[in-house]
Amino acid sequence: MKSFFSVPVTLVACALLIGAAPLRAQSKSECLACHADAGLQDASGHSVSVDEHKFGASIHGSLECVNCHAAIKGYPHPDKVTPVKCDTCHTDEAQGLAGSVHSNAAEHPCTSCHGDAHQIYPKTDPKSAVYPLNIPRTCSACHADNGMAKKHGLAPVYPSYIDSIHGFALSKEGLLVAANCQSCHGSHHILSRKDPASPTNKVNVPATCGKCHAGITENYLGGVHGKAIASGNMKAPVCSDCHTAHAIEQPTADAFRMRSTPICGSCHTDKFSTYRDTFHSQLGSLGGYVETARCWDCHGAHDVLPASDPRSPIASGNLVTTCSRCHAGANASFVKYQPHANARNRTLNPALYFIRLFMNLLLASVLTFFVIHTVLWLIRSRVDQIRRKAVEGGKNA
Ligand code: HEC
Ligand code: HEC
Ligand code: HEC
Ligand code: HEC
Ligand code: HEC
Ligand code: HEC
Ligand code: HEC
Ligand code: HEC
Ligand code: HEC
Ligand code: HEC
Ligand code: HEC
Repeated sequence: MKSFFSVPVTLVACALLIGAAPLRAQSKSECLACHADAGLQDASGHSVSVDEHKFGASIHGSLECVNCHAAIKGYPHPDKVTPVKCDTCHTDEAQGLAGSVHSNAAEHPCTSCHGDAHQIYPKTDPKSAVYPLNIPRTCSACHADNGMAKKHGLAPVYPSYIDSIHGFALSKEGLLVAANCQSCHGSHHILSRKDPASPTNKVNVPATCGKCHAGITENYLGGVHGKAIASGNMKAPVCSDCHTAHAIEQPTADAFRMRSTPICGSCHTDKFSTYRDTFHSQLGSLGGYVETARCWDCHGAHDVLPASDPRSPIASGNLVTTCSRCHAGANASFVKYQPHANARNRTLNPALYFIRLFMNLLLASVLTFFVIHTVLWLIRSRVDQIRRKAVEGGKNA
């Protein structure tokens, strides 16, 4: 038994009041007769007071204390009190948690996300720790911490999330429908992205984003990348490969536009290098023009289709429309220009190949000529100098 005499005087009064029936399970008011005292402490000076009003206003306000504290029947309390098990009433949530990345019950008690056990509110109440606007802060109690992230080999995702389009919409605009951690990860049965059942596993990402972005996801699933993923080709991109998962930004922002060609280019390395040789790319790299054509201006971003598909913006029948978005008056001869012309490939682009060869030879011969010219000129001027000195020396003598 813990020391009885180290507690305040009010406690003694409480004990006398109810001490007559220590074995009967006490009612809430009997427990509160002692525990509502704001100064009530245990032997080690730790507060054991319960705010009666806050508890009363919480979702469990109508429960008896012993519904949760089943091991306590009255006072004095048993030496060892078994921890409260929320599982008795919330089996689904408890089972979900037990099979999740947060299954370690000592490290992740229910209260690690729901907050003070006596002040739990429904998820629709802005005071709740799991109200949509509060979820990122709740998860970030751990997931903003670099030490914890390093220990478990995880990225500290909170800082990137909170500056993302979703984090901004949620925290600055108070937009309840913006994606919070729970929208993409779930709440109790959270799984590692390596688990095929996880909503963040690569194959499930389109459906996860598609819960809200339904129209775009439909386009994506009809395109070459979506079809590839659906048929098990994991080399194709899903939403998070192009947009990231936590640092999602506005796609119309210049920063995203500037970064988007290397994103497509990270997989299509050959098309990327030919694109980089063209006017569109060179214009883009000169002073950061954002008006120039990036990959998706010609290919689309979500409903990307091969040239052989007549619906594709790069199908021969659609090129005039595609190019005229920026080149007013583009016609059939204008679109003969090849956006991926590969001057190094003699079979694919023979004309370009020989033009490039000729230009390179021309450049080389012009350079050689000027090098020889300069060297001869230097020799000549040196010889002149020596001669002049010799003549002047003769005069002075
Ligand atoms: C006579 C006063 C009194 C009554 C009545 C009382 N408690 Fe306590 N309780 C205490 C004190 C004092 C402590 C500090 C530790 C100790 O002395 O056991 C405490 C500690 C606790 C603890 C913390 C136990 C731990 O080891 O961390 C819980 C939980 C608790 N009480 C719940 C209840 C419940 C539930 C009731 C009603 C069924 C109740 N108490 C009735 C005085 C009381
Ligand atoms: C919904 C379940 C639930 C209800 C109802 C509940 N408690 Fe608790 N209580 C907990 C949990 C969870 C803890 C954290 C410790 C643990 O896991 O055992 C706790 C801790 C405590 C503690 C220890 C405080 C501390 O900081 O160590 C006391 C004292 C206590 N409760 C008293 C009460 C009293 C008195 C009532 C009734 C007015 C009550 N509880 C109702 C779940 C509950
Ligand atoms: C990793 C954080 C986390 C942990 C740990 C956690 N929860 Fe939750 N819980 C949440 C979130 C987030 C929500 C809100 C879900 C939503 O918005 O649909 C929630 C919602 C709930 C709900 C309401 C469910 C509904 O659909 O209305 C209950 C009940 C609940 N939790 C109980 C528990 C219990 C019991 C435990 C411990 C076994 C627990 N939670 C542990 C994060 C957590
Ligand atoms: C004795 C049964 C019981 C125990 C034990 C219990 N709860 Fe509850 N809980 C309830 C009831 C009843 C409700 C109200 C359900 C409702 O109104 O839909 C509730 C509601 C909740 C909600 C709000 C659900 C919502 O609508 O968003 C959360 C969160 C919750 N409990 C978490 C916990 C946690 C965490 C624990 C352990 C500390 C716990 N509960 C222990 C019975 C219990
Ligand atoms: C009490 C601290 C804590 C809280 C609160 C918490 N987590 Fe975690 N989380 C962890 C730890 C620790 C791990 C690593 C578990 C392991 O590897 O054993 C983890 C793992 C994860 C993972 C798995 C990463 C992977 O791929 O392996 C995800 C996803 C995750 N948490 C999301 C969340 C979300 C979403 C919330 C809020 C609803 C949340 N966490 C709340 C501590 C926490
Ligand atoms: C828009 C959807 C979305 C939102 C919102 C989101 N995540 Fe994620 N999260 C993902 C995806 C998808 C992954 C899989 C890894 C990847 O693609 O980067 C992931 C991975 C993780 C990981 C594992 C990181 C690692 O290094 O393996 C953790 C931890 C995590 N998220 C926690 C959170 C937390 C905490 C929040 C809220 C602050 C959050 N996530 C918000 C989609 C999301
Ligand atoms: C819970 C719903 C929800 C989920 C799930 C979700 N989003 Fe969003 N997303 C939104 C809302 C709402 C906005 C609008 C925010 C604003 O305009 O302020 C948004 C905005 C965006 C934007 C910016 C759009 C624009 O026109 O500026 C992109 C890009 C985006 N989300 C990508 C994703 C990706 C990728 C995923 C999955 C990894 C995802 N979203 C999951 C709700 C969601
Ligand atoms: C191959 C890369 C790529 C993939 C995969 C991808 N996106 Fe996009 N997304 C883009 C680009 C590039 C833009 C900018 C398009 C523009 O400005 O016209 C964009 C724009 C958006 C926008 C802003 C609205 C719009 O149409 O401009 C949203 C929302 C969005 N994407 C969500 C998603 C979702 C959800 C998925 C998965 C189903 C996804 N994206 C898959 C590259 C991609
Ligand atoms: C994560 C790697 C990856 C990224 C990023 C990516 N792609 Fe793809 N792409 C693929 C794969 C794999 C295929 C082949 C799919 C198939 O045919 O099954 C493909 C097919 C294509 C095709 C059809 C070519 C053909 O031969 O069928 C086009 C066009 C295309 N991608 C354009 C783009 C554009 C534009 C972007 C950026 C907006 C982009 N890709 C980003 C991997 C990627
Ligand atoms: C100015 C418009 C334009 C831009 C910008 C552009 N492309 Fe293309 N792309 C085309 C056209 C037209 C074709 C079909 C003719 C060809 O293969 O040269 C094509 C072909 C492709 C193909 C092969 C498609 C097939 O069905 O065989 C891929 C893959 C591709 N491009 C990827 C990219 C990537 C990645 C980028 C950005 C680094 C990019 N494109 C930039 C117009 C463009
Ligand atoms: C998103 C806008 C955009 C799209 C789409 C686009 N271009 Fe361009 N293109 C530009 C810009 C900007 C320049 C540089 C300014 C200029 O000269 O008009 C340029 C320059 C060019 C040039 C060299 C300069 C000139 O006007 O002769 C050619 C050739 C060209 N584009 C061909 C194409 C072809 C072919 C397509 C369609 C397959 C295409 N472009 C699609 C924006 C675009």
